[in-house]
Amino acid sequence: MRHFLTLKDFSKEEILEIIALAGKIKQETKNREYKPYLKEKVLGMIFEKSSTRTRVSFEVGIYQLGGTALFLSSDDIQLGRGEPLKDTARVLSRMVDIVMIRTFRQERLEEFAKYSTIPLINGLSDIYHPMQLLADYMTICERGYNDNLSVAYVGDGNNIAHSWLMLASKIGFELRIATPKGYEADKKVLNDALEFAKMSKAKIIVSHNPKEAVKDAQVVTTDTWVSMGQESEKVKRQNDFQGFIVDKKMMGYAQKEAMFLHCLPAYRGFEVSDEVFEEHSEEIFDEAENRLHVQKAVMVWLDRHR
Ligand code: CP
Ligand code: NVA
Repeated sequence: MRHFLTLKDFSKEEILEIIALAGKIKQETKNREYKPYLKEKVLGMIFEKSSTRTRVSFEVGIYQLGGTALFLSSDDIQLGRGEPLKDTARVLSRMVDIVMIRTFRQERLEEFAKYSTIPLINGLSDIYHPMQLLADYMTICERGYNDNLSVAYVGDGNNIAHSWLMLASKIGFELRIATPKGYEADKKVLNDALEFAKMSKAKIIVSHNPKEAVKDAQVVTTDTWVSMGQESEKVKRQNDFQGFIVDKKMMGYAQKEAMFLHCLPAYRGFEVSDEVFEEHSEEIFDEAENRLHVQKAVMVWLDRHR
């Protein structure tokens, strides 16, 4: 049995297999052919942080696959009152077929996985957001941008940046990350990515220079400067990230037809200008929609590997 806690645990071939399956499922969905790949299966969704896309896409996804979802907010279940995660894992393993967790520390996912006898999916942790990056890569592939791909990530060295590192180093494309000083990607994640990059021939460049990072990139991307759980640092972060907004001027350094991606929610006037966002809204909302298709593929894939 496999879990999906990070892209680190998946090979290039497996990632591409899931993206291809997502494409097939997307086409079927567009044709209104809802194949019951997960008939009568139940997905438990534990949320310790807020969500719009992850919650809706998983819930709609399992329903379209013939199953059903349980939304388990940590405020409502005993976990929030101190019941150990390992006990929650063993109870849910007896009752549902698959679990998704959105949480803080990655170690919580690892602990749950250790005691779980059913597949577990990471719906975002402080360190990784693998489902988002599968959707991002699917959106890039759909537009045929995956040949000789170069991606510039401008902003915080956070869970999204870390997931870009994992994706690039597994798939083997060029990734340039520019963060302000003090907001670099985690050293261990970067070192792991550099290690994988040796095999995949990915080119990974980290700097504090957004203009250099964006120069001639085919895809430009960013994320909020203030992730969930960092609300108390908001003012400091907004000051420290000055010069890192992706606006028309910044996009001007990229290739002419460059894509702009954003995992959402977006904060206009901070990490991205309203103009850039609206100009690229078609690909941004395709990216959001692809969460649905790719997560359906992940659930089917995990079910086939148990
Ligand atoms: N991108 C993303 O995961 O969105 P939500 O926080 O709304 O789930
Ligand atoms: N980095 C953001 C991503 C939200 C989808 C956060 O963790 O809040």
